[in-house]
Amino acid sequence: MKFEDLLNERRSIRNFDGDKVVTKEQVVQIVESAVKAPSWKNLQTSRYYCVLSDEMLKNFLSDCLPSYNAKSARGAALVVTTFISNCSGYDLKTGNPENECGNGWGYYDLGLQNENFILKAKELGLDTLIMGLRDSDKIRELIKIPEEETVVSVIALGYASEKPKKTKRKDVEEILKFL
Ligand SMILES: Cc1cc2nc3c(=O)[nH]c(=O)nc-3n(C[C@H](O)[C@H](O)[C@H](O)COP(=O)(O)O)c2cc1C
Repeated sequence: MKFEDLLNERRSIRNFDGDKVVTKEQVVQIVESAVKAPSWKNLQTSRYYCVLSDEMLKNFLSDCLPSYNAKSARGAALVVTTFISNCSGYDLKTGNPENECGNGWGYYDLGLQNENFILKAKELGLDTLIMGLRDSDKIRELIKIPEEETVVSVIALGYASEKPKKTKRKDVEEILKFL
């Protein structure tokens, strides 16, 4: 699919077809594309935890997501995205942040990777929903995410069983200034 078509056709999906299974191979391919994103000093601090098993998915949906997100994500694989804290944006010798953004750079790097993630998924015929509303403590406990990682989003990954309308975007004039 052409890049512009990918951008235009990707939508957040809130109804997944649970009869169609996401494979480990697809997830590996998607994460291979995600990691091609640029990152602070090429540190690549983003991490992915992919839940595929029925038992774990059931627990995740009931314990780690608010009910409306659990409803949207049913039938999809769930990918927790994290980054290693105090690394991107930090002077690794002194442990001090290089500027006022601090761990903001870790979030930035993960966001860049996650855009690759969702576009590669679309190219492979899969759909996604990024979820920022989630219980990070419960996720950390269930998945056993190390303390040094910051839990950020959960991405539902699966096959759409709906075709949502295109969402509106701001006009370029509103968000771009030339000086
Ligand atoms: C960081 C982030 C967090 C989000 N969290 C949620 C969420 O918790 N639940 C949800 O239904 N959608 C969530 N979304 C999806 C947005 O609502 C959606 O991307 C936006 O409305 C634009 O629609 P589109 O993705 O179809 O273009 C999130 C998106 C982003 C980027």
